[in-house]
Amino acid sequence: MSHKLTIKHLLGLENVPASDMRKIIDVGFIFREILERPIKKIPTLNGKNIVNMFFENSTRTRISFELAEKRLSADVTNFSASSSSVNKGESLRDTVQNLLSMKLDCIVMRHPIPGSCYQVTNYVDSVVINAGDGSHEHPTQALLDLMSLKEKFGSINKLKVAIVGDIIHSRVALSNIYGLIKLGADVMVCGPPHLIQRGIEDLGVKVSYDVNQAIEWADAINILRIQRERMGVGIIPSIREYRKSFGITKERMLSHKKELVIMHPGPINRGVELDGEIADSEQAIILDQVLNGVAVRMSILYLLLGNNELLS
Ligand code: CP
Repeated sequence: MSHKLTIKHLLGLENVPASDMRKIIDVGFIFREILERPIKKIPTLNGKNIVNMFFENSTRTRISFELAEKRLSADVTNFSASSSSVNKGESLRDTVQNLLSMKLDCIVMRHPIPGSCYQVTNYVDSVVINAGDGSHEHPTQALLDLMSLKEKFGSINKLKVAIVGDIIHSRVALSNIYGLIKLGADVMVCGPPHLIQRGIEDLGVKVSYDVNQAIEWADAINILRIQRERMGVGIIPSIREYRKSFGITKERMLSHKKELVIMHPGPINRGVELDGEIADSEQAIILDQVLNGVAVRMSILYLLLGNNELLS
C-alpha cells in the first residue's frame, strides 16, 4: 500500500477523494492494533513539532490529538486561546505566523469561525489539520465515525446511516455526509424542520422529520447534541418537547424492537437527545468511536507528516 495522500492539509472532507479516506481508515486499523500493545509508542514522528491550537472548548478531540501525537513520538505544544495574547487583541494571522516562526511542522486547529483553518493555510507553509471550524466541518470526527462503522459492519458501501438532531449547526453532520456519500453509504438526516438546512438533498441525502421513520430505515444512527447553550435564542421550544419528538429514548427503542447501532460524537446530553440506558447499552459504539479517534488521528498525522517508511 502506498502511504501517500493527495492532500497536503486536512481542512474538510468536501475536497478529500474517497481513495485518501480509505487509506486513512486502513492505516487507522494498523494503529488501532498498535494501541492494543503493552508499549503504544512508536518513533514515526520523532523530531516533528506539532502545535494544538484550540480557540474553542474540547475534551475528546484535544486529548485524542495530543495522545496520537505523543504515541508517534512528536514534540507537542498546546496553545489555549484563553491564556494567550489573543485576549490582548492579536489577530489569527499574527498568532499563527508568530507560532510558525518557531519552526513548527503542523498546526491542529479548532476555531469557532467557519473557514478559519483554510484561511491559516494562506499564512503558513506547514500542514494544517482542522479539529472543528464553527458549523463548517469536523473531518477527523467523521473519519473516526467512518472507521467505527467499517469496524462494526465490515463495509460502508450501501450502509444506511441516519444522522439525527441539530443538523444545521453541526460540523459533524456535514463532514459525515461528505464522507459517507463518497464511500457509498445511503444517508438520511432527521430533525426538526428548522434545524435542517433547505436544499440539503442536493448533497445526496434523504430528509425525514420523523425519528421513528429514521430508526426503521437505518442500520446505524448518529445522534447529535442539541446545544443547550443556544436554548436562550430559542433553537427549540423546550428540552422536554425535543426529547419527546426526537430523543432516542429507552421506550422508543423498545417499541421498535430492532438491532440498531447507536453512535454519538460526544459530549452527550443524557436524557435529552439520548437516554443513558441506550448510551450505555450493547447497541452503542460510542466509546469505540473515542478509541478509534486516537487511531485515526495517528493515521492522519503519519500520512501527512511521516516519512511513510515504518509501516511499509
Ligand atoms: N466530538 C468532539 O468534537 O468532542 P469535543 O468537543 O469534546 O472535542
